[in-house]
Amino acid sequence: MTQAPAATEENPLLVGLRKRRAAEPCALTIFGASGDLTQRKLFPALYALAFRNLLPDEFGVVGVARTAMTDDDWREKMRQAVLDHARDEFRDDVWNRLAQGLRYVSADLADSEDDAGIAEALNDLDSTHGCGGNRVYYLAVPPAAIEPIVVQLGRLRATGGWTRLIVEKPFGHDLESARHLNEVIRTYFDETEIFRIDHYLGKETVQNMLVLRFANGIFEPIWNRQFVDHIQITVAESLGIEGRAGFYEEAGAIRDIVQNHLLQLVALTAMEPPIDFSAESVRNEKVKVLKALHTPGPKHVVRGQYGPGYIEGEEVVGYQEEEDVAPDSLTETYVAAKLYVDNWRWADTPIYIRTGKRLPRRETTIAIQFKRAPHPPFELDDEEGLRPNVLLVHIQPDEGVSLAIGAKVPGQGMTIRTVHMDFLYGGAFRTGLPEAYERLILDCMLGDATLFTRADEVEEQWALVDAMVAPWKRDRPSFPNYASGTWGPAAADELIHRDGRSWRRH
Ligand code: BG6
Repeated sequence: MTQAPAATEENPLLVGLRKRRAAEPCALTIFGASGDLTQRKLFPALYALAFRNLLPDEFGVVGVARTAMTDDDWREKMRQAVLDHARDEFRDDVWNRLAQGLRYVSADLADSEDDAGIAEALNDLDSTHGCGGNRVYYLAVPPAAIEPIVVQLGRLRATGGWTRLIVEKPFGHDLESARHLNEVIRTYFDETEIFRIDHYLGKETVQNMLVLRFANGIFEPIWNRQFVDHIQITVAESLGIEGRAGFYEEAGAIRDIVQNHLLQLVALTAMEPPIDFSAESVRNEKVKVLKALHTPGPKHVVRGQYGPGYIEGEEVVGYQEEEDVAPDSLTETYVAAKLYVDNWRWADTPIYIRTGKRLPRRETTIAIQFKRAPHPPFELDDEEGLRPNVLLVHIQPDEGVSLAIGAKVPGQGMTIRTVHMDFLYGGAFRTGLPEAYERLILDCMLGDATLFTRADEVEEQWALVDAMVAPWKRDRPSFPNYASGTWGPAAADELIHRDGRSWRRH
């Protein structure tokens, strides 16, 4: 019998696990250090990693932005960001450990070639914190700033350690610009050094989609056109554009959500089993799905824009009245579409997707609706029981998986009602779910690109989006066409009703 380790001894299994997730010494440089993403997501994530001792001991962060600030000003700003947004309690010892490795450099690499300050700060971290010349560069900047920064980073390379580049979305504006960006980045970085972020891939529940499908024997045999009637993927938000008009007017829902998050969910749902969980195997399978996506015709794509309305009882303005939005803006805040994956597994099985801002609530779900039982041998008192089975993957909130099945209502007659077999993360696991950025930042430090998108994936995603928006240039939609707090334009209902189906009940 093996003995349980003494309280002071380390459990060898835990040591092994920790070793696998232990990153090498490195310095992280964040471009866009005073921006929203850095404060709301990146620093809270770094703090959560520090809190769990997942950062290397030899670690430092250089923040780069245009704003003039001292190291101490920036430290204070980031401390506040952690206080406001971190998921863990604030502990001085954890913060102080992180804070002593923070440096700030005021520079505008988009306009000048002033990278001397950055090189100096990084060299300083190498000598004071032993970062060993290893570099992660995080580009949390608008698309136009990426190219000039990449070109200059190419010059900063000769450090003797490894270099990795994290590029935030949106990655380009269309296929052409994404290809160009890929070319520029590949001039200086190898594909294995490029980490294109789609933060949905860092979500636990999105990764669980792979576990659900490939670690369980019961789902894969029925995960195909023979058993599945159709799939619905919903990314609904009750939020509006949160003061991001500058970005959103250019992007719209199709570039903000469909091109990346939604198509990644489609790929993970429809992909073939990879031979292993390595970056290349997983991404090879995802890209096959993206290549097989049939371009939906204009009748199969619906766009919408929210007007004024109510969200949880609060009155909200319409999109065209949002600050800095053109009063006649035709930017879409809602998209629904019917997609087909043209391959043996999925031929003729529609995948309905929809996303929108100012919908009644936040909900990201993947619903696999199975075909009806071929012949129910019951004389039913009540038709309700004839509803088909649905496997519902709750990406957020209320993370979990639920299977809708018909069950007999206790009593004399034969009444069948749909009930749910539920797995809820909150109930099954005691630990809270990590934020996507924690996983992704650490994976990059570990050199694991499995949960990042490869150049060909991004390009396939853009090819589809370009084809979807091409007809939009020809006609003028009449916007707004849905009230805030409703489930989108009537045309989205018609899109699915035409097939004798409906959006999942809300
Ligand atoms: C971002 C979009 O990528 O994802 C935002 O730019 C959107 O518009 C956000 O609100 C949604 O992310 P999450 O993790 O809250 O579902």
